[in-house]
This record gives sequence, C-alpha cells and structure tokens, in this order.
Amino acid sequence: MTSKTRIAQIGFGYWGPNILRAISSHGDAEIVAVSDNDQEQLAKAGRQFPTAALCTDIDDVIARNDVDAIIVALPAGLHFDVTKKALEAGKHCFVEKPLALTTSDCKTLLGLAARKNVVLMVGHTFEYHGAVRKIKALIDAGEVGEIYSIIAQRMNLRRIRQDVDAMWNLAPHDFSIALYWLNQAMPVSIRAQGFSHLPRPKPLADLTYLTMEFASGAVVHIISSWLSPEKIRKVMLVGSKKMVTYDDVDVESMVQIHDKGVDLSSVVTTDYGEYQTLVRSGDLVIPALRITEPLRIEMYDFVDCIRQGKTPVADGQSGLRVTRILEAASESMARNGAPIKFE
Ligand SMILES: NC(=O)c1ccc[n+]([C@@H]2O[C@H](COP(=O)([O-])OP(=O)(O)OC[C@H]3O[C@@H](n4cnc5c(N)ncnc54)[C@H](O)[C@@H]3O)[C@@H](O)[C@H]2O)c1
Repeated sequence: MTSKTRIAQIGFGYWGPNILRAISSHGDAEIVAVSDNDQEQLAKAGRQFPTAALCTDIDDVIARNDVDAIIVALPAGLHFDVTKKALEAGKHCFVEKPLALTTSDCKTLLGLAARKNVVLMVGHTFEYHGAVRKIKALIDAGEVGEIYSIIAQRMNLRRIRQDVDAMWNLAPHDFSIALYWLNQAMPVSIRAQGFSHLPRPKPLADLTYLTMEFASGAVVHIISSWLSPEKIRKVMLVGSKKMVTYDDVDVESMVQIHDKGVDLSSVVTTDYGEYQTLVRSGDLVIPALRITEPLRIEMYDFVDCIRQGKTPVADGQSGLRVTRILEAASESMARNGAPIKFE
C-alpha cells in the first residue's frame, strides 16, 4: 500500500482527542473526518485537524468513500451499532473498550470483520504498555514461576460515568492485562459484587470487587472504584519464584521485582507435628524501562495491521474475551456475588 491510510473518528469527547493525536503522528495515516454530535467538541477537532471534514451525523462519515478506517470513541452503549455499520461498509475499525456490551454482539462484529476481511481492533491500551510487556517477558522467561495470584486496583476520584458502572469503565484494562499475562486463558469461574453509593437516576456501582479463578490455580482479584481519595493504578503479581508489582502512578520505579516468597523446599514438620515454612526475602530489582506512550504504539499497530494485513495484538478476540468476563461479572453482581461458571 503506497497511499496513506485515511482515517475518520467518531466521538471526540474526553478520550477521542488523545487517540487522534496519537494516530496522526503515524507517517502513513491521514485524518480525513471527525464526527461528534456536540458542536463544541467538533469545533475543537477542527482546530486540531484543520483539513478534516467535520460531521455531526455518524452515517455521513461511514458513507464516505475517502475513508478506509474508522475509530469509534463513543460511549460504550453506542459501540455495537456504529461499529456494525462501519464494518458493513467495509471499513477497518478500532473500537474503544469495551468492544460491545454483550458477547453475542461481539461475535456479530467479529463475524462481520472476517467476512469483510477488515481489521477489527479494541482499545486495550495496556497490552501495549512497556511495563505490562516487561512483566510478560519475565513470566515467559520463567522468572516468576507458577502464577499464584494477580491483584489489581484501579481507583480514583475523577470522571464518574453515567452510562456504565465502575467495573465496565475501569476493569477492562485489568482484565486485558491479566489475560495477557495468563496467555489468554479464560477463567473457570467469576464472582463479582458491586456497591452503589452516589444518588443517581439509575443506580450504578461505583465500587466493584471481582474474583476470577483459573484452571491453572491462578486467582485474579480486581477492585475498581470511582470513589477513592487517591489515584491508585497498581497490579501485584505473586508467583512461586518471584513477586512483581506494577504501579502506573510511580514513574520512577513502575515495575519492581521482589525476590520474595516461601521456600517450598523448606516446608518441614517440626517435632510437634506442625508445619514450618521459611519465608525468603531477597533482592529488590527495579528494571530500567524505556516507556513509549502506549496509546501511540497501540494506534500505530492499527495502521500497520491495516497496511500489512496483520492481526493486531488487541484484536476482536481480545475484545470478545473481555466482554464475556464483564457480562458474567454483571450476572454475578446481579445475583449478589454468586459464582458464574465458565465452560
Ligand atoms: N483506553 C483508554 O485508556 C480509555 C480512556 C478513556 C476512555 N476510553 C473509552 O473511550 C470511549 C469514549 O470515552 P470518553 O471518556 O471519551 O467519553 P465522552 O463521553 O467524554 O465522549 C464521547 C463523545 O461522543 C459524542 N457522542 C455521543 N453520542 C454521539 C452520537 N450519537 N453521535 C455523535 N457523537 C456522539 C459525545 O458528544 C462525546 O463528545 C469509551 O468507550 C471509553 O471506555 C478509553
């Protein structure tokens, strides 16, 4: 492909401008059109991308012959309808997370993308994060050992959404990180609880707890909250050999590798018949990371996959897996934390 890949974006709210800035620096991408039904946002897009056509009607953008690929950065409830239309029109699609609100809708989108032979990608930004990838390399090299648990917290007091709860908004990132580290294994069971404190017309959980169990024995706990005095973006990985922390807020020592654990060969029985274990507390290593903006790597992957006929790291399947988990977690939440079994 010699000419540039012509991009249109639908949705230019809080996150949309970041996506468009990131993709616009790709030498083979050209921003052709932006759509938003808010005139003020559209005017902002016009100032940032003066040559782009500005449209309030989504259908006008999808119908354009000069658009190869569409970025969907709309509220989650609109992802399915808009992406379906865009895929039907033969456009490559990048959809912000979550891909859609139901497993069945995700499958429809995946089927359409396959039939139209176009790229379908989902905004799982953290699969492109240098820290997450560094930890994946440690796992793959056998340095962490057997994964016992992953404990993720994503909490802050910021934008409280009115369309989805804290889990649907925040946890997709942690699901995609955990699945990426666990080689895309799906859990065997999910339990979730949600708590709603803020007075709103429709109660939506502002604090959610989720537990996923895997056939390997790994357990993943995820806490998502909009009501926290501190911004916490932390994941702890406990393995049989090492323990690793990833703190996205701690720029200086984002990844810490702790040579800590229980020395399994030291499990002995005392004269009194009690078990005794020796806890190992060795060195702490803070690897030097060269972090390139994950969003830029993510958006470049979209353009490169379109141009080279490749499958993105965060492909439609990745979006489907995360929506399956969200759907099961919501079902568990509605049943007050009852476990939902996966086939
Ligand atoms: N990957 C990340 O780290 C990340 C971060 C934030 C948000 N997101 C995702 O990005 C998406 C958008 O989130 P946001 O925070 O930007 O939301 P937002 O509400 O700030 O922006 C959505 C925009 O869509 C426009 N819009 C709504 N309905 C429309 C319609 N029918 N036609 C045209 N325009 C319409 C709104 O005017 C608004 O400007 C969500 O899916 C969210 O989960 C991802």
